[in-house]
Amino acid sequence: MTKIGVLTSGGDAPGMNAAIRAVVRTAIYNGYQVVGIRRGYAGLLGGEFIPLELGSVADIIHRGGTILRTARSDEFRSPAGQARAQQNLGDAGITGLIVIGGDGSLQGAEALWQRGVPTIVVPATIDNDMAGTELTIGFDTAVNTAVSAIDRIRDTATSHERTYIIEVMGRLAGHIAAAAGLAAGAESIVVPEARVSNREICERLERGFRRGKRHSIIVVSEGAGSGYEISEYIRACTGQEPRVTVLGYIQRGGSPTANDRILASRMGYFAVELLRQSRGGLMVGIQKGKILSLPMSEVAGRPHALEPDLLQLSQILSI
Ligand code: ADP
Ligand code: F6P
Repeated sequence: MTKIGVLTSGGDAPGMNAAIRAVVRTAIYNGYQVVGIRRGYAGLLGGEFIPLELGSVADIIHRGGTILRTARSDEFRSPAGQARAQQNLGDAGITGLIVIGGDGSLQGAEALWQRGVPTIVVPATIDNDMAGTELTIGFDTAVNTAVSAIDRIRDTATSHERTYIIEVMGRLAGHIAAAAGLAAGAESIVVPEARVSNREICERLERGFRRGKRHSIIVVSEGAGSGYEISEYIRACTGQEPRVTVLGYIQRGGSPTANDRILASRMGYFAVELLRQSRGGLMVGIQKGKILSLPMSEVAGRPHALEPDLLQLSQILSI
């Protein structure tokens, strides 16, 4: 009987549990055994293996985080660490591995694939910063969490006639800021991919003020700078007293949206199908609504370009 392993790695993302569930149920449906590897590559090195049955993944589709836990491992980055990981998989009789995680996790999976371990990656990170897929698991939930937080902040922004700056996550990418900013009707969106100068932000605020706008929402991606720095600049150039909110880890937790659960279910299922076809070295992706696979070597370490239309549209609509 074929035995496959599954692990979650790197930053957690809402929908990882739904992906684990899809992997386990699809594999067992096809007569495979499934081994859960706890704490990502760290657990792979430490031999933290647990059998997963149908019931092991009951009641998790709606839960944020990951039941397998997640971790980062420097030891796994070394050839010696990867050799030991391969050895541990072999000792446990695991013939295929599904890695649920972001770009770093994908690079780790590729290293295992280069050593001959059939490995498939299911892309999961709130940042949506992986090449080859229009969406990663967790992004939709994070955007919805950010939008509902900004909606609440807007209530107080309107009441007090103030400018509010909301800093969102996204490491080096502005996908969360662009999507949440557009959906929340932000006046300015500041992302690393399309830098807006502080001067421009001030000019937009002053233009709005001249035509009677008494409150503003500015969404900043953490990769583009600090909300507090922008606040200081606005204070100096307009005399306003902006308020800053850093949303932080609130964006990474919580129950996944229906869209993330559906994406995770489709991707987890497809990952097992690829192993069933004796394939490896692939990342699952979604493009134009279709689930597909791409060679890891083509996507590893590459950026996912931000759609410039979103930023332009946001500027037009918040004139
Ligand atoms: P994410 O998958 O969310 O991007 P990280 O970048 O922290 O998260 O990567 C998760 C883990 O993947 C790292 O702790 C490390 O063990 C492994 N990893 C990351 N990059 C590489 C690499 N270039 N080669 C081998 N393993 C890597
Ligand atoms: O999961 C992605 C992310 O949320 C980034 O946006 C952020 O920079 C990073 O993880 C921080 O995570 P940690 O503190 O776990 O390293």
